[in-house]
Amino acid sequence: MVDLSSDLGFIKLKNPVITASGTFGYAEEFQDFFNLDILGAFVLKGIYKDPKPGNSPPRIHETASGLLNSIGLPGPGAKELQKIVKKIHKLTKTPIIINVCGDTDEEYIEVAEIFDKMDEVTMLELNISCPNIKMGGKCPAQDEKHTYKLVNQIKHITSKPLIVKLSPNVNDISSIAISAEEGGADCISLVNTFLGMAVDLDSKKPVFKNLFAGLSGPAIKPLALKLIWEVVQSVHIPVIGIGGIFSGKDVLEFILTGASAVQIGTINIVEPSASVRIIKEIEDIMIKSNIKSLDEIKGKLKI
Ligand code: FUM
Repeated sequence: MVDLSSDLGFIKLKNPVITASGTFGYAEEFQDFFNLDILGAFVLKGIYKDPKPGNSPPRIHETASGLLNSIGLPGPGAKELQKIVKKIHKLTKTPIIINVCGDTDEEYIEVAEIFDKMDEVTMLELNISCPNIKMGGKCPAQDEKHTYKLVNQIKHITSKPLIVKLSPNVNDISSIAISAEEGGADCISLVNTFLGMAVDLDSKKPVFKNLFAGLSGPAIKPLALKLIWEVVQSVHIPVIGIGGIFSGKDVLEFILTGASAVQIGTINIVEPSASVRIIKEIEDIMIKSNIKSLDEIKGKLKI
């Protein structure tokens, strides 16, 4: 027997596998593929206060070992999501994480306040890093002061653990992570998608109306690992690693680099039951390598 649990300090997850926002719908869609109880936790698609249509198509474009997306955070609005959360909570006791979005700081706060009141919600993830809202991919996570101020304001109105999801599209990710920690973040998740673009030779136009889109998938794994390493060295709060994780081996590499848990994203779109396989692979590798618990290897990269 091996211990797959992941201790984030404010919560102990049964295993380190969390499904990432925007790749796992509202969880209920995945019940036909596997029992939601097996997950460490899941993050629902990002939510604004009011319903949003998202970006006009095309919204996704496949690349070599990756996926560009320009979805634009469509959603039913906070009121509707509250009803969905109540329904999901009846299906599973796996911790539910709400990915909080806002066009303004005030909206972020309002959305956080709404879900803070729900017992069914375990944690909030502040999405300050979506690259698909403004032309050029601008987001609050690209500015230290904005990150500090927003995290601090949200921290004051919520009693739930607060995860802050960072953007890789910055010069110095450590200073943004430190701002989030100083603002009161309980945990950092990184990375959101890398800004990229695709062009269409026939029309001679960019593929996406927003010009840039967010790149995810195996292509970004080495880039993500490097940024996770940097952030782990810079903050004292736990880090959730995200970026092209497709296997149990990938998960253990992120843990070795210092992540306490991981989020799996793009693979959910390719292989909806990937979580089941990945959790089994982690267990198999741990048994084979005589690793009794994740703590045994967490952050133990030999430099
Ligand atoms: O466009 C999107 O809906 C992506 C969201 C995100 O990357 O946070």
